[in-house]
Amino acid sequence: MAKDLDWANLPFGYMETTKSFVANYKNGAWDEGTLTSNHSITISECAGVLQYAQTCFEGLKAYTTADGKIVTFRPDLNADRMKDSCERLEMPVFPKDRWIKAVIDTIKANIEWVPPFGSGATLYIRPYMFGSSAVIGVKPADEYQFRILVTPVGPYFKGGVKPITVRLSDLDRAAPHGTGDIKAGLNYAMSLYNIVDAHKKGFAENMYTDPATHTYIEETGGANILFVTKDGKLVTPKSNSILPSITRRSLVQVARDYLHMEVEERQVNKNELKDFVEVGLCGTAAVISPIGCIDDHGTKINVPSGMDEIGPVLKKLRETLTGIQMGEIKAPEGWVYEIK
Ligand code: PLP
Ligand code: COI
Repeated sequence: MAKDLDWANLPFGYMETTKSFVANYKNGAWDEGTLTSNHSITISECAGVLQYAQTCFEGLKAYTTADGKIVTFRPDLNADRMKDSCERLEMPVFPKDRWIKAVIDTIKANIEWVPPFGSGATLYIRPYMFGSSAVIGVKPADEYQFRILVTPVGPYFKGGVKPITVRLSDLDRAAPHGTGDIKAGLNYAMSLYNIVDAHKKGFAENMYTDPATHTYIEETGGANILFVTKDGKLVTPKSNSILPSITRRSLVQVARDYLHMEVEERQVNKNELKDFVEVGLCGTAAVISPIGCIDDHGTKINVPSGMDEIGPVLKKLRETLTGIQMGEIKAPEGWVYEIK
């Protein structure tokens, strides 16, 4: 039985739920891990995560389907991506089969926190890992903790699928050949100044360009980007310094196989922004959030789909993806994991 929460008005925020998963890495091995109701952590004042930001995370969601099942979406890809993050940050990989099982066990232990079908809310799942033992010279920690917390959330942007305004950013979120393609906490730390500044100036997000030349569109602080051309093609930026979004990769397949659209994954020059008829963000938190206006240093690029509602192509894509996630549309083999 779901908790008695005001599901329709949940913010994208954290609340303590019933259980979190925790596993510890020590002497070169992971322990078996356990579910805990302790939602706080005690670590060394000199822990690797505190001194040198040795931490990475993932984000995925659990849903209640139309026929009352609880499911999650492509956790295997989150496990793969966390492996990439861990390897890049010199952290020990938590084995994939155990990673997926831990996500499923954590959802099961919090089943009453999974929002009901049709409520507009979902259960956000946040697996993360950090260096927990002391380091003072710059080197990886010897001990790590892998945890999974869950929290019910509403839409990432206020207003749900209401178009937002973003600005082209002068600052970078990732360096060329840096860590933009992994989910390192440090990528988000360095975006905080810029997102606070954007919000102060009335923008919902920063749209980053490629850090080497500031010519090509990359992504925003927390989502990849989708464009629709006048002739109905889906275009999405290709770059080594953006996060390989699972939502974006899924949407590319949905566009091709379900909606029979032409899809281009390629560099997108910022001069092309004025030519697209629809623009949106995509990610686990954002799902698809339409962009109605892009501010390029005071020059407004008004997207033809406007500020009132999502354009027809992104709407169809969003409905198809969420239909797959919520069990209303048949999913490709292996995309939907049934929990209960
Ligand atoms: N890009 C960034 C920087 C993100 O933080 C996220 C969120 O995870 C995404 C893209 C979207 O990725 P996904 O669709 O796998 O959630
Ligand atoms: C997600 O979509 O899961 C993310 O991690 C984005 C985050 C900035 C909330």
